[in-house]
Amino acid sequence: MKNTAQRVAGFKDSIFGVMSKLAREHQAVNLGQGFPDFDGPEWLKKIAETKIDQGHGQYAPFMGTPSLRMMVSSYYKSYYQLDYNFESDITITVGATEGLFSTITACVDPGDEVIVLEPFYDSYVASIEMAGGKAVPVTMHAPTFSVTESELEAAASPRSKMIIVNNPHNPTGKVWEKTELEMIVRFAIKHDLLVISDEVYEFLLFDGATHYPLAQFPGMMERTFTISSAGKTFGLTGWKTGWVCAPPKLSHAVRLVHQYVTFSVNTPMQEAVADGLGKLLEYIPTFQKTYCEKRDYFYDGLTKLGFEFPKPKGTYFMMVPIRNKTQKTDVEFAMELVEKRKVAVVPPSAFYLKSNEGQAYLRFCFAKKEETLKAALKNLQGL
Ligand SMILES: Cc1ncc(COP(=O)(O)O)c(C=O)c1O
Repeated sequence: MKNTAQRVAGFKDSIFGVMSKLAREHQAVNLGQGFPDFDGPEWLKKIAETKIDQGHGQYAPFMGTPSLRMMVSSYYKSYYQLDYNFESDITITVGATEGLFSTITACVDPGDEVIVLEPFYDSYVASIEMAGGKAVPVTMHAPTFSVTESELEAAASPRSKMIIVNNPHNPTGKVWEKTELEMIVRFAIKHDLLVISDEVYEFLLFDGATHYPLAQFPGMMERTFTISSAGKTFGLTGWKTGWVCAPPKLSHAVRLVHQYVTFSVNTPMQEAVADGLGKLLEYIPTFQKTYCEKRDYFYDGLTKLGFEFPKPKGTYFMMVPIRNKTQKTDVEFAMELVEKRKVAVVPPSAFYLKSNEGQAYLRFCFAKKEETLKAALKNLQGL
């Protein structure tokens, strides 16, 4: 029998799957999986039921239902004063992950280089490699997880095609400062790069932090793909409904890929998300309060256990330094925790290509019921 493609020969099972399997085997509290262990809002689930009852049982237009594209356009306008035309600039995708894949496939030719800031969301590098491109990492350094302009410059080459920025940032919980984004903007414009701005956690902000979409900065709209996800915004990751926003020429290229990868996205869920986006103004404050309380509860618990790190300002992740607890690597320590302490976390070294800084951290996801967080903290007592 012939072999499967070389393209996938270097891929491994994702660290999330590995840790979740271990969590099940050891009956551990699972703070590894990056999604809530509770459901999204009841009112939105009811809307989805109604949408199914009303029909909506056939393929949606391949670029997304008009109602959802209109609502996406309208929230970018009202929150960020960004003008995305619903006909030409917005494509609904199967979650942000498909949006990332379709965008990268639409932009990256074999041999092209894509600058990624590590630690990164793991699908970036896999998608770049499947397109035949090369990921060029720039390390975000603790404790602020910053990068310098000279580090970015060192990663640039005549083959640089694109940079991918994630803000708010998984796994560090960092919300990029405006001045830091201005530096990335200068760099992207100087090297005439295409830009993916992965903003799936755009509404998961705490302590008055502000989200600045990269497309807002002068010279950026024409080169930026803004990607987000209803799965994150409504805490319904299983709905897998996301979008890519970009000017017509860029969106057209994404749509050419998207039409052959998935063709279209689940119709009733698009209709429900459209209604959900219509209620963002009422919904977001409660959403932020819920997650802020979880963050504070879990952060207090971890600091009482002796972990020391700045409180993250966004997302539902904490990147927790472990060197005052152990000299083991993140992977070794994560294995010890799942086996002996019955707590599963993610060792973040899987999110780095270049640096070994991730070995000194663990990623905890606090998008969990209070009882789950309580059980994890109890199991970690006396570390
Ligand atoms: C930074 C980042 N981008 C994209 C995604 C994927 O989002 P979706 O579930 O909508 O595909 C995730 C999910 O964890 C993420 O953390």
